[in-house]
Amino acid sequence: MSETGRDAFTSLFSPGILEVCENVSGLFGDESFIETIGGPNSEHFLIMDKYDEFITCLRDGCSAVELGAKLRDLFIIMQVHFFSEEMLMKCSNYPGHDSHKRHHRYFVTTIEGLINSKASPKDAMERLIVFFPHWLLGHILTADREYEEFNKLLPSA
Ligand SMILES: [Fe+2]
Ligand SMILES: [Fe+2]
Repeated sequence: MSETGRDAFTSLFSPGILEVCENVSGLFGDESFIETIGGPNSEHFLIMDKYDEFITCLRDGCSAVELGAKLRDLFIIMQVHFFSEEMLMKCSNYPGHDSHKRHHRYFVTTIEGLINSKASPKDAMERLIVFFPHWLLGHILTADREYEEFNKLLPSA
């Protein structure tokens, strides 16, 4: 990111928001992190990659139309992933299916609430920037991992 872009970004958002963006982007250079979330071909990686595209677009001062398109892509890919994960859980009679589905709904509802928020666009965007990666990474590393552990115990077909 150029110094001009950095200055423009930090003049728009509260202190610390740029660090959140840079920390998330930095994770993409960390192979062990990528393996932790399922590897470079996983849906989790794809979601985080789309989030990175979204914040990069925001930091680089792209147009509102481009930013809206990036956010829409991110939201769609995330919902497709949640749906496929829930279907797999249902098919394997995972006992945590209902609660896991509620976690997904909470996330989707929160993101929808921020997108449609009547608060100032700046406040809503800052909350989105911070909430999205923190909730998602926490979820992948705990709830999704519990399902992986359950799956490992299933007899292979
Ligand atoms: Fe999940
Ligand atoms: Fe997941």
